Amino acid sequence: GKKRKRGELQSNPAPEKKASKLLADHASCAKTQQNSGNINGVSRSGPPQQNGIPRNGPGRDDKNGHGHGHGQHGQHGHLSKKREILLPLRKALPIWPHAEEIKAGLRGSKDVMLLTGETGSGKSTQVPQFLLDEPWCKGCIAITQPRRVAAISLARRVAEEMGSLLGSLSPASKVGYSVRFDNSTSPNTRIKFLTEGMLLQEMLRDPWLNQYSAVIVDEVHERSVNVDLLLGFLRNLVTGDKKGRNGKPLKVVIMSATADIESLFKFFDEGFQKSLNTCQKAKGDHTQTNGANDSDSSWSGIASSEDENSKKALTKKSKPNGVGKSNGERSLKRKENPSISPEPIDLTSDFMYTCYIEGRQYPVKIMYLPEPTQDFVEAALKSIFQIHYKEPLPGDILVFLTGQDTVEALERLVNEYALGMDTNVPKLLALPLFAALPQSAQQRIFHPSPPKTRKIILSTNIAETSVTVPGVRYVIDSGKVKIKQFRNRLGLDSLLVKPVSQSAAIQRKGRAGREAPGVCYRLYTEKDFVGLEKRTVPEILRCDLSGSLLTMKARGVDDIFSFPFLDRPPREALEKALLQLLQLGALTETGGISEVGLQLAKLPLTPTLGRVIVEAAKPERDCLLEIIDIIACLSVENIFLNLITEEKKEAAEEARRELYRREGDHMTLLTTVQAYAKENSDRKSWAERHFISHRAMQNVMDIRKQLRQQCTHLKLLHPSKIPLKESPAAPSEAQTNAILHSLLRGFAANTARLMPDGSYRTMLGNQTVAIHPASVMFGRKVEAIVFSEFVFTNKSYARGVSGVQLGWVGDVLGSMG
Ligand code: CDP
Repeated sequence: GKKRKRGELQSNPAPEKKASKLLADHASCAKTQQNSGNINGVSRSGPPQQNGIPRNGPGRDDKNGHGHGHGQHGQHGHLSKKREILLPLRKALPIWPHAEEIKAGLRGSKDVMLLTGETGSGKSTQVPQFLLDEPWCKGCIAITQPRRVAAISLARRVAEEMGSLLGSLSPASKVGYSVRFDNSTSPNTRIKFLTEGMLLQEMLRDPWLNQYSAVIVDEVHERSVNVDLLLGFLRNLVTGDKKGRNGKPLKVVIMSATADIESLFKFFDEGFQKSLNTCQKAKGDHTQTNGANDSDSSWSGIASSEDENSKKALTKKSKPNGVGKSNGERSLKRKENPSISPEPIDLTSDFMYTCYIEGRQYPVKIMYLPEPTQDFVEAALKSIFQIHYKEPLPGDILVFLTGQDTVEALERLVNEYALGMDTNVPKLLALPLFAALPQSAQQRIFHPSPPKTRKIILSTNIAETSVTVPGVRYVIDSGKVKIKQFRNRLGLDSLLVKPVSQSAAIQRKGRAGREAPGVCYRLYTEKDFVGLEKRTVPEILRCDLSGSLLTMKARGVDDIFSFPFLDRPPREALEKALLQLLQLGALTETGGISEVGLQLAKLPLTPTLGRVIVEAAKPERDCLLEIIDIIACLSVENIFLNLITEEKKEAAEEARRELYRREGDHMTLLTTVQAYAKENSDRKSWAERHFISHRAMQNVMDIRKQLRQQCTHLKLLHPSKIPLKESPAAPSEAQTNAILHSLLRGFAANTARLMPDGSYRTMLGNQTVAIHPASVMFGRKVEAIVFSEFVFTNKSYARGVSGVQLGWVGDVLGSMG
């Protein structure tokens, strides 16, 4: 493969030459393909123009989204004005004409609604507002999101649409959010955006979800592990006896941006059929009903259409309400050949309603590369400048990359090349977008571009469906995504960069056609596209399940093998996860949840990291504050900047030397956090001097604060232990050992020993792993290592590595049995 010569690029004093060369290279290589294009919209006039009104509020960078300098009264006026301005925009959303249908769809015996509609059709913002005044809706409405960013920005938007402030700012506010490490609700919150994980957390305290009248599960198509668990719990709740709810109804809305809701219908329908059967058996009535299993035949041969035509399937409305059907009867009819006639199947039952929102999609031209590229960052850079120089249409550019590392690398390259642009060319504003980005930075993507400037949003797949970025006309799709994958041989999850699925590529492309016709540059060949998997495998089928099992056990699911899974993980995967929980001490001998397990379930961390915390809190370890600092770092992607040139790498080595610790990466992280925290005057320039991401460090400090609070709350940490002033002394040897022992307790499975040939082999599984070049332990030989992350690129790498004594590893593995 060709190696990226970034060093060369950077040291070149005349970047404008490079920029034009870049263009010349690329302009000749893009091949176009005209997509048939489908405008399914009710009106062809397109979504409302913004008229200079920022969709996310006027220049609000402060965390809670309220303007400055308004008096109580002035603010009120400002808020209601905002509401009036937003109302016509809401009315123009594709979902607006369906308001009555959606309300009616949940009345009476209908407790579940399946709702599909393209991203941007208004599902997340409007559905909760539609339902708020329904007679059955006395309590709160929960809307779950797979990501924090989406939960927060949606809450802010809906608050604005309702003319109010967010929950934490005004006790009268009806809208709030709750995400890991951040809560903004008031006693009057009626619409609560929360991450899936947070709702699962709430179920620990409130298993019947008594505070809610409705739960809206948004973005189910993403199929996160948590959404799959939620679906199982919700199915049990709505189809069960509901005795814990004291007669209060619970309505469930499942929302998806893709047409694939047949499996969801079947899933809930099975639950309803089962409960009907149980009821009828209880009544001694043996009339045959459509039992869950005998419905299977009606499903065979129904292939869900995955091509772009499937979107058209969203345009036809389902039959209303299944009137006149006998109890429990439902229909699953579909025209014979879905690829010829992509009619939606009629999914109706007495308990469920299915609603389709027609999409609004303008044609998007697709450009493929004629040859595959080894380096999508460089290819993306070329495409950005090609678009910027050559494309006549105005409009922002959205680039899909893999993670914080590639986003930040491209951000630097774009900024560097933009310096050399002609003055008559509009400016470029590169904006990163990834889940770990601090909120204020995330909000910038919603602000309109400054005059004569084109925004370039460099995003992970977070912008695929979760976040709607206004103003985008161009999409550049790397064709790659970073996903978590369980690696059986190693017995642990690792992050892998993988090709996207076709359905993900189609979603990405669609982001260019939201407001007007657009163009999508795929940084791969047409042949590559054809060879992609049709759809992304749900996370639950490819991830470590120990966290999920802990979630289930802590919520009273005794028999995990009979839990309703939308896609059932293989038995071996479940068994392996059970074993892991046993080894962490989270389960009792008999498979019930242990004291430690309950603590782990309450911590917003993986069982492994949770176990490290619990260990560090023990009096004999007594190093919880230090461990929290380390875990905060492990929770963000990377605090050390990825440097491009050799020169910079050397300078960074030099500057960071004072932070490096010979014990390994974890102690180095701790030293870094402590040094940063101690820096009271100018943390930003301290970070710059040390080639450390200030953005990441801000996040670390935020997470650290939240973890301290959580640990205090769980009585793992005594408040008096939290120092008032940041002046931690360097840890003593005893403290260092306590820290390493605590890490070992959680990461016992991630240990390796030095072999006579100088390689490292894992203690469990006997696999070769190499220390990652980014580790401070790189090139060092110690008798044993413990590592917190495993990455697989061309070979297996341990990242986040500390040296430990072999005897310690033996002890901890021995104690686990
Ligand atoms: O849920 P769905 O993707 O169908 O749409 P939505 O999130 O309700 O968004 C509807 C519209 O609201 C978007 O097209 C944006 O114009 C606007 N919106 C926004 O400006 N800021 C947000 N944080 C969310 C939505």
